[in-house]
Amino acid sequence: MSVLRGKKVLLGITAGIAAYKTASLVRLFVKSGAEVKVVMTPAAKDFITPLTLSTLSNNPVVSSFTHEEDDNAMWNNHVELGLWADLMVIAPATANSLSKMANGTSDNLLIATYLSAKCPVYFAPAMDLDMYKHPSTKESFDTLMDYGNIMIPAEHGELASGLVGQGRMAEPEAIIKFIENHIIDNLPMYGKTVLITAGPTYEPIDPVRFIGNHSSGKMGFALARAAVELGAQVKMICGPTHESFPHDLIHFIPVLTAQDMFEAVHDHFKDCDVAIMAAAVSDYRPKTVATEKIKKHSETFKIELVKTRDILASCGEIKSEQFLVGFALETDNELENAIDKLKKKNLDLIVLNSLRDKGAGFGTSTNKVTLIRKDESVVSLPLKSKMEVGMDIMNEILIQLNA
Ligand code: CTP
Repeated sequence: MSVLRGKKVLLGITAGIAAYKTASLVRLFVKSGAEVKVVMTPAAKDFITPLTLSTLSNNPVVSSFTHEEDDNAMWNNHVELGLWADLMVIAPATANSLSKMANGTSDNLLIATYLSAKCPVYFAPAMDLDMYKHPSTKESFDTLMDYGNIMIPAEHGELASGLVGQGRMAEPEAIIKFIENHIIDNLPMYGKTVLITAGPTYEPIDPVRFIGNHSSGKMGFALARAAVELGAQVKMICGPTHESFPHDLIHFIPVLTAQDMFEAVHDHFKDCDVAIMAAAVSDYRPKTVATEKIKKHSETFKIELVKTRDILASCGEIKSEQFLVGFALETDNELENAIDKLKKKNLDLIVLNSLRDKGAGFGTSTNKVTLIRKDESVVSLPLKSKMEVGMDIMNEILIQLNA
């Protein structure tokens, strides 16, 4: 899934021949899940029609301060448009428009919108090679980058003039990749690997039966989503669950038993920066697993159980730089029990769930948790959606990592 999903993208099109490629660019933004609005300079309409762009973007396209064709001439509010955007992309950006942007020459709606935008602005220059090399163009690039705008460099190749050199607007696919990478590189957890365990474990009794629990895996998936939103790579070690969240940054490792989970965690623990054990691991497993289905011969039936290995505690024993987070599901003496687990398992943070709280625990889409830090200070959170709780936990981890 693209980091552009749900983002509001304002595409500014200026009058260069590469404007014809913006039809693909709009399509790719929409395909990646972004909402797109287009503002173009009046002259850009000679290269691509507003009708094409509004059809592809599903939004009206604006190019002047007023709708001339509309009897009730409406004012196109550049300030509103600039503030609406999560990111603005000027592509193609001609030498003329770049110079106007650099100097604040607000003689059309696009430049006025650019000057009003508070979001990150990317610009993809497109011009002939000598124009690209000209000192005045270079000065526009430098000024715009000094202002904090982000340049998507032009590519080398055949130009509309027939000359060959640098000046071709980056291809639409390359523009999308550039922006996606730029967003990810600037996220606060970029470069960090987060290991998450989630869901229940199933401990087989015979080929058709098992000991399991009601964990849905929802909390673990909410944590994974929050971690990738912050730019982390996630290793998701998960017991049987109906949840799924396909994402480029999530490596999903399905497991069945507590022993499988133990081994998978230890395959990856040494290389992670943060480990969050949100799984409801079975504390016991049948001592032996029958190879054939067990028949109901007797009135009563006993299964001898043996303890599974505590995955979280085993990580606490070997951890070096990793930030280790555990969960505690309690019914009584909640705070005391959770602090005890925090100490015993050598954790940096423990997330306490009390089954006495309504809306907390298994299966629900909400949760009410209390975070307890290593120094035993406590943050009690109100009832929230698991998605929000996931983000709160990740933010607390971020604060502590940067402390
Ligand atoms: N956990 C684990 N491996 C186990 C059992 C638990 O990694 N074999 C982890 C869980 O993922 C959770 C934490 O330990 O992060 C706490 O689990 P919980 O069941 O609340 O506590 P236990 O330590 O098992 O103690 P008890 O069941 O006695 O309360």
